[in-house]
Amino acid sequence: MSKKLYIETLGCAMNVRDSEHIIGELTTKENFTLTDDIKDADLIIINTCSVREKPVHKLFSEIGHFNKVKKKDAKIGVCGCTASHLGEEIIKKAPYVSFVLGARNVSKIGEVIHKEKSVEIDLNYDESTYAFSDFRSSLYKAYVNISIGCDKKCTFCIVPKTRGEEISIPPDLIIKEVKRAVENGAKEIILLGQNVNNYGRRFSSFDKKINFTQLLRMVSEVDGVERIRFTSPHPLHMDDEFLEEFAKNPKICKSMHMPLQSGSSKVLKDMKRGYTKEWFLDRAFKLREMIPDVHISTDIIVGFPGESEKDFEDTLDVVKKVKFEQIFSFKYSPRPLTPAKDFKNQVSNEVASERLTRLQNLHFEILDEISKKEKGRVYKVLFDELKLGGLVSGRSDNNWIVKTKGSEELLGKFADVKITKSGRLSLEGEVIKVYE
Ligand code: SAH
Ligand code: F3S
Repeated sequence: MSKKLYIETLGCAMNVRDSEHIIGELTTKENFTLTDDIKDADLIIINTCSVREKPVHKLFSEIGHFNKVKKKDAKIGVCGCTASHLGEEIIKKAPYVSFVLGARNVSKIGEVIHKEKSVEIDLNYDESTYAFSDFRSSLYKAYVNISIGCDKKCTFCIVPKTRGEEISIPPDLIIKEVKRAVENGAKEIILLGQNVNNYGRRFSSFDKKINFTQLLRMVSEVDGVERIRFTSPHPLHMDDEFLEEFAKNPKICKSMHMPLQSGSSKVLKDMKRGYTKEWFLDRAFKLREMIPDVHISTDIIVGFPGESEKDFEDTLDVVKKVKFEQIFSFKYSPRPLTPAKDFKNQVSNEVASERLTRLQNLHFEILDEISKKEKGRVYKVLFDELKLGGLVSGRSDNNWIVKTKGSEELLGKFADVKITKSGRLSLEGEVIKVYE
């Protein structure tokens, strides 16, 4: 009889991929099958995020709940970034937790499940060449890691302290994984790393020089790869060579994530982001000029220590000028192990909340303006999800969510869709051609 695994994933795409790795290892080597009924599980895992304070609170309320509803002998494991930075403290605070496995130690999952009270959170551990067993939650889109860790020192960010130093995965291993994903039916490859366009900075077992632009070319040459996306690039490393490859390579989807964080050059300096407002605008304008249909998404933090009204207006100014199609906006959250938490002039919660609302309202206006222009346009969409009400949903090349009436038959297929209805977050339309 197989054992049952229940897994909950918080946080970013890298966590989603780490969870797939955990599931792959446990289902192929340890006789587990997945369940979505927590009461039925023999092993309950939560894969955590620590980038802001909220998800950390969520961890303790979640595992408290797991402990109440679980089967008598079921084990609870805590993985991911909060596991990395709290380590043993988790077991002290929640003694019913059986193991703690850091975000850089995922390949040890097969060991820790057999030990009691095991804590594996070594930040120097190198799993950049580990061959994980295969598991993918989507049939058509495949996440492929290209690096582990992050070498930047953004003063607000805890990630380098939870995922450790940046090591790139050798290109031959990446290409092998891309080929395997395509053989299993993937049409879209999503390359993952904390700072993807810094690729090639350091390998632990590969001695040729290769950068992200070259890697993109290599991936696009793999037969069967129809679309490539990547997350997340860093604006500092958006040199001309990279932007030009992005623009001219037809397999690369025309949707770029450019995490701005702040539009004020002074705040950017305090954040140690390495670029200025002018550099960011220059890169964004170059993209818009080269690719008229490009979508640009971003991450913005409001209320970073020392952010004045004038600094915040610089952020609004960049938003007005770039007209981002998507913004992930956050109030600054002081994090342990980061320099910014000790900076003077912390901004009050009231001011930060007020700025967040202003930013979001401005963005709604921009979205209304953008979506008005979408009716009547035709997008090539890769459908990958069934929705309620007889709808199927997918993404356009430039990352619009597009829905249409349809059934399973459309899943995994590309189709041209003529847009009939547009909203702030998604479009609806009619299929005019299905590509077989
Ligand atoms: N390199 C990763 C960054 C991971 S954190 C990437 O580019 O995706 C994801 C986002 O969370 C960051 O871009 C930032 O906008 C936000 N973030 C990170 N630390 C934060 C903090 N202390 N407070 C608020 N938001 C934060
Ligand atoms: Fe964090 Fe900056 Fe790296 S936001 S993940 S330290 S690029």
